[in-house]
Amino acid sequence: MTISEPIKITKTNLSKRDSVDFDNIPLGRVFTDHMFICDFNNGQWNNPRVEPLGMIPTHPAAMALHYGQAIFEGMKATTDKDGTPLLFRPAKNAQRLNFSAQRMGMPEFPEDLFVEGLKELVKIESHWIPKKDGSALYLRPFMYADEPFIGMRAATSFKFIIIASPAGPFFSKRIRLYAEKKYIRAAEGGTGEAKAAGNYAAAIRPTEIAKAKGYDQVLWLDAHEHKYIQEVGTMNIFFKIDGKFVTPKRDGAILDGVTRDSVITLLKHMNYSVEERPVTLSEIRNASQDGTLEEAFGTGTAVGIAYIQEIGTSEETIHVSDESPVGLEINNRLNAIKSGKSEDHFNWMLKVE
Ligand SMILES: Cc1ncc(COP(=O)(O)O)c(C=O)c1O
Repeated sequence: MTISEPIKITKTNLSKRDSVDFDNIPLGRVFTDHMFICDFNNGQWNNPRVEPLGMIPTHPAAMALHYGQAIFEGMKATTDKDGTPLLFRPAKNAQRLNFSAQRMGMPEFPEDLFVEGLKELVKIESHWIPKKDGSALYLRPFMYADEPFIGMRAATSFKFIIIASPAGPFFSKRIRLYAEKKYIRAAEGGTGEAKAAGNYAAAIRPTEIAKAKGYDQVLWLDAHEHKYIQEVGTMNIFFKIDGKFVTPKRDGAILDGVTRDSVITLLKHMNYSVEERPVTLSEIRNASQDGTLEEAFGTGTAVGIAYIQEIGTSEETIHVSDESPVGLEINNRLNAIKSGKSEDHFNWMLKVE
């Protein structure tokens, strides 16, 4: 689906930018001055626009509020050494949004307009991109059903919106994971491979339980046997065992992470073998016990690489590793590409000029 209308731009003359302390940005609480919006009704997307960020009037019967037809994306804008804004693989997020839309019975959003909307917003908000190493402007594209209707069917009107929030540098401490054997995040045939809002709602309570036990994140296991590792909190997961990397295979229940795909490419470029296959918790326990488990890390847009220290269950603690040299190297390489400091061999960066 394409859209021929140009993006209409209305700028605010009241920027909040100068009231923000860029040395101390509270995560996820500060939003830039504008947002991108597009409406879907009568079977098509129309009226793409950038306008001052503000409240969106919502009917109390809006279907997203009742039936959860809501999906989102997460990505970051950075700047190169000349201050030109850069987007990391935006087409991958556009494609994933449409995969989620299909699964959730929502209309696809034109991929070229997704990228154009991001570019227009980032261009207008470029002074909001934090300059410190490791910081970025977090971008949150999302789509939800805004049709007022009580009844179970796909909605006929939707909104697609992009908002932006500056995020300071993220210093990854080593994390401890709780392998959850009672609750699950997703099952094959469910919505786990879609970035559907409801997946995150279902994860909130188990995450609170893991945190109350002193862990940082939930290690999600498969729905049938609680035996296979799926992912970590809002990250995909990699293990290095006896010199080789292994990551859970996409089975329809895990998210197809943009960072996961990029890390696989970088590891292969560094001549590591990377297997995408089922990984059981007992394989990781055995590797820890026989000394072949060398490192493990989570991968995701928000954090980059999160180094894993240990995995606990209700019965045992599996020590992973105290250092992650390859994870660190991958994190440095990714950051260097995202800040334009190293060659973009894989053609991942899109300049916003
Ligand atoms: C459940 C889940 N898994 C994995 C990821 C990592 O995906 P990406 O690398 O695209 O951020 C995310 C974050 O979006 C997530 O929410």
